Amino acid sequence: MPLLDKHGRTIVDLRISVTDRCNYRCVYCRTGNDGAIFADLSFAEYLRMVRVFVSLGITKVRITGGEPLLRHGVIDFVRELAKLRTVDGEKLDLAITTNGHLLAEMAQPLVDAGLNRITVSMDAVDRDEFTRITRVPNGYDSVLAGIRAAKRVGLAPVKVNCVLLRGFNDDQIVPFGRFAREEGVVVRFIEFMPLEEDRVWTPQIVVPLAEVVERMSAYMPLRQIDHGYSETARRYVFEDGVGEIGVIAPVSLPFCGQCSRIRLTSDGKIRTCLFSVREHELYTHMLRGASDAELAAAIEAAVAQKEARHHIGEPGFVPPSRTMVHIGG
Ligand code: 5AD
Repeated sequence: MPLLDKHGRTIVDLRISVTDRCNYRCVYCRTGNDGAIFADLSFAEYLRMVRVFVSLGITKVRITGGEPLLRHGVIDFVRELAKLRTVDGEKLDLAITTNGHLLAEMAQPLVDAGLNRITVSMDAVDRDEFTRITRVPNGYDSVLAGIRAAKRVGLAPVKVNCVLLRGFNDDQIVPFGRFAREEGVVVRFIEFMPLEEDRVWTPQIVVPLAEVVERMSAYMPLRQIDHGYSETARRYVFEDGVGEIGVIAPVSLPFCGQCSRIRLTSDGKIRTCLFSVREHELYTHMLRGASDAELAAAIEAAVAQKEARHHIGEPGFVPPSRTMVHIGG
C-alpha cells in the first residue's frame, strides 16, 4: 500500500534535515544571531526511520539542513541510504540541498557514496551582493567552486536555487540567466515564502513567476517545457536551446495539490507541510522502544493528516511552527 493522504495524494518524497546548524546567515532566512538549535540525532537513528519510510513507498530522499554538509558522517549516511531498496526493488533517488560552501571537496566522495543529485543555494551572481545576502565573508568563491565540482563529478544537472526578494536581489534575474547558460546549470528562481526568522515577508517582496519570465524573456525569449507531475518548478529553455531555468512559484501558482513530500526534522519529528503548525512525533516513539511496525503506523497516521494546502497571503495565515533553517526546504 502506498502512503496516501486523505486528499488522494501519494507521498513518495522524503526530505530529512540532519542538522539545523548553518554556517550562513542569509538575510531572508535567519536573524544575524545564532538562533535556537534542535538536537541532532545519530545517523543510525535517521537511517532506521528512513528504512521504515522506504518500506512504506518512499522512493526519493533529499538530505537537507540547516547545512547538511556541516554534519560529520553525512557521506557515510549517503552510502547507507544507497544500499536501501524501494518496495519495487529499485535504488532510491538520493539528493542533497546545500549552500555549497563545503561542496568542492565533498562532491566526489558524495558521488562515490551514491548521491544522484544536488541543489546548491546561491542568491546572487554578483560577488558583493552574494556577501550582503549570506553575511559571511569569502563564501562566493567556495560556492562557485562547489557548483563546478558537482558538475565535474557528474551530478548533472546541477540545480542552483535563487530566492528572489524585490528590491534586494531581483537585479540578478538576467545575470542568473547568463550564469545558467555559461555554467550549464539549471537556475531555479524561488518565490519568497513566509518561513524566515525575522518576519520580513510581505506580498510585495515576492517576485512572481510571471515577472521573472517576462524579465528574462526581455533578455532572451524562453520556451516552456514539460515538468513532472509533482515537480515544484515550471521549466523553461532559452530559444537557442542553450540553458534552462526554472521558477518555483508556491505563492503565485501553488502546487499543493500535487505535493508528494513529507519531512523529517533533525530532532526526529514529522512535518507534513512546510507550513505545518503542528508536528508529529516519530523519534519519541523510537525512544520508547517502538517496533518498526509501530513507527510505520505513526508515519501513516501523520500522512493521513497532511494539510490540503498552505495559506500564504491569506488573512488568517498562521506562521509555521519552525522557520526554514529548522526545516530545510
Ligand atoms: N522562501 C523560499 N525559499 C527559501 N529558501 C530558504 N528560505 C526560503 C523562503 N523563505 C530556500 C533556500 C534553499 C531552499 C531549501 O529553500 O535558499 O535553496
